[in-house]
Amino acid sequence: MARQLTENRIVLASHNSGKVREIRELLAPFAVEVVSAGELDLPEPDETETTYKGNAILKAKAAALASGLPALSDDSGFELMAINKDPGIYSARWAGPDKDFGLAMEKVNTAFEASGSDDRHCRFICALSLVWPDGHDETVEGIIDGDFVWPPRGTNGFGYDPIFQLKGHEQTFGEVDPEWKDSVSHRAKAFAQLLDRCFRDTPKGS
Ligand code: IMP
Repeated sequence: MARQLTENRIVLASHNSGKVREIRELLAPFAVEVVSAGELDLPEPDETETTYKGNAILKAKAAALASGLPALSDDSGFELMAINKDPGIYSARWAGPDKDFGLAMEKVNTAFEASGSDDRHCRFICALSLVWPDGHDETVEGIIDGDFVWPPRGTNGFGYDPIFQLKGHEQTFGEVDPEWKDSVSHRAKAFAQLLDRCFRDTPKGS
């Protein structure tokens, strides 16, 4: 039986404002105060693991130990099959120190063209980990499939959203309504699993 979240305050172990906004929305129905790692001035650990789940646990554990509160973290990425699932766990790093996702998307397209492949299958993956200060973790993963589009389209969302078109749809995540993205995304899928596992006893907000 998975551990239940009964505390009324948690830390969101992320410094990415796009993710913080989306996760706050997902947690909105609960009577749980969400503070971000940035607000608590917690350091950002190096992501030294080789899997999304490993990095999600690493980040949440660091925040839980530093704050004494349960911590929730997200490790996610964009994968393009034709280029060996790059950038994958290095998705944030492909944007460089300036976090320039225009540049990161250019790199994806350059690698895609160099591959000679016409397979545009890509996906977003999200691992979510909830870690308590005693080190216990509950960790889940959500995946969605899409098509890589070029050139990028739309200014909504963040990161690789303008080059991701969910299978069966005609707009990129950069073009769709953010609320709709929140309801179908890899993060939403992972979150649904986490809710099912750990939030059964969590008080709802008014
Ligand atoms: P990390 O989990 O902090 O290593 O960063 C994951 C990176 O993957 C983000 O910086 C984004 O570039 C990308 N990413 C993850 N989720 C999304 C999403 O929902 N839309 C667009 N890009 C995403």
